Amino acid sequence: MTALEEKVTPFAAPKGIPEYYPPESAGFAHVRATLEAAADRAGYGLLELPVFEDTALYARGVGESTDVVSKEMYTFADRGDRSVTLRPEGTAGVVRAVIEHGLDRHGLPVKLRYSGPFFRYERPQAGRYRQLQQVGVEAIGVDDPALDAEVIAIADEGFRALGLTGYRLEITSLGDAECRPEYGRLLREFLAGLPLDEPTRARAQLNPLRVLDDKRPEVREFLTGAPLLIDHLSAASAEHHAAVKQHLDDLGVPYVENPRMVRGLDYYTKTTFEFVHDGLGAQSGIGGGGRYDGLMATLGGQPLSGVGFGLGVDRTLLACRAEGVAPWSEARCEVFGVPLGDAAKRRLVVLAAQLRRAGVRVDLAYGGRGLKGAMKAADRSGARLALVLGERDLDAGTIGVKDLATGEQQSVPLDAVVDTVVAALA
Ligand code: HAM
Repeated sequence: MTALEEKVTPFAAPKGIPEYYPPESAGFAHVRATLEAAADRAGYGLLELPVFEDTALYARGVGESTDVVSKEMYTFADRGDRSVTLRPEGTAGVVRAVIEHGLDRHGLPVKLRYSGPFFRYERPQAGRYRQLQQVGVEAIGVDDPALDAEVIAIADEGFRALGLTGYRLEITSLGDAECRPEYGRLLREFLAGLPLDEPTRARAQLNPLRVLDDKRPEVREFLTGAPLLIDHLSAASAEHHAAVKQHLDDLGVPYVENPRMVRGLDYYTKTTFEFVHDGLGAQSGIGGGGRYDGLMATLGGQPLSGVGFGLGVDRTLLACRAEGVAPWSEARCEVFGVPLGDAAKRRLVVLAAQLRRAGVRVDLAYGGRGLKGAMKAADRSGARLALVLGERDLDAGTIGVKDLATGEQQSVPLDAVVDTVVAALA
């Protein structure tokens, strides 16, 4: 058998990765752009982060005891034998970039946004992917509750701009360096009195907060009487929390307190929050974030605080589907050119370029199809208008402009068609 005859089994994308292709990818692009625009309007500048970094950055920044670091990282040795990891989240990378480039030396807070794919080796299911897409923001260097509220309000604004209503904001406070050790002691003491299995006991010693996140019903039952951090906040944390809530009230952003919220990353202090959508089943978090007062110092920078969020673009798109909102168009173009014959094609190719220059989205029938095939392609493209050009039109210096919704067609002088089309689409 020669190489040409060899039968090739088609390849499949790796498991757990949502691919977006037309026409649905228009929804994905719209969701991402809407969330990015909300951050942009609040002065967050774009940071284009590397997709992989030194493994130690995540181990140190996100926390060794988290599932994200201990079980879910895509880690490998590169050809220079360095251990690198596909980014599982964005905050550690942003803080690394702020420190490395001294972005915290010129006026605070440093306000940055980012978006793109992140990678977690999770068990794939609806809404839980191994390549997930986030739009994130981080505001670093100012410990002001108004900034926490701003970050939360940007996310709320982004979701609302998409037309979403079926979500709720849950918030709590994870306290600070003053109250956390004492609370950790209380919680460890409480957990030590429970008949827990050995791995859970070990976890309780390493990071007791994480045990509160145990999903097993029998463990949950034991945990009903667990002490809650919100009842043991330091004066400074309690004051900060009250101020954040006051700002949210002022802004008209509704929230519910969830004192049992456990985030999957270890860097959080004080304000933490999640946006939860009811239409998504088990993977209901469409975004989450909070304050991280120790992360800059942990990663070798100045002891500055930070606050931010990561919004899940994939899940937000699923939420739009669940609510039946789709404030975007799946049309590939607005105008579709139908040339009948070679001379007409030469003219339409130029006309398409002129229309595109005038800001109109245009596609053409290629490959010498007949009228019927070309009109079918025009319908499939989602265009509002078809431009039909035949030899006779060319001789007369006119072109047919057909409204694809009503079927009405009018003949327009060729040298006026750009203006006619622009006006018809306005
Ligand atoms: P996170 O809660 O791990 O936070 O992720 C943020 C959002 O990403 C989640 O709410 C969810 O919508 C989406 N997401 C996470 N994992 C998956 C997955 N496997 N499949 C689909 N979507 C997923 C962070 O990543 C923090 N860096 C957020 C942050 C920024 N905190 C402070 N600043």
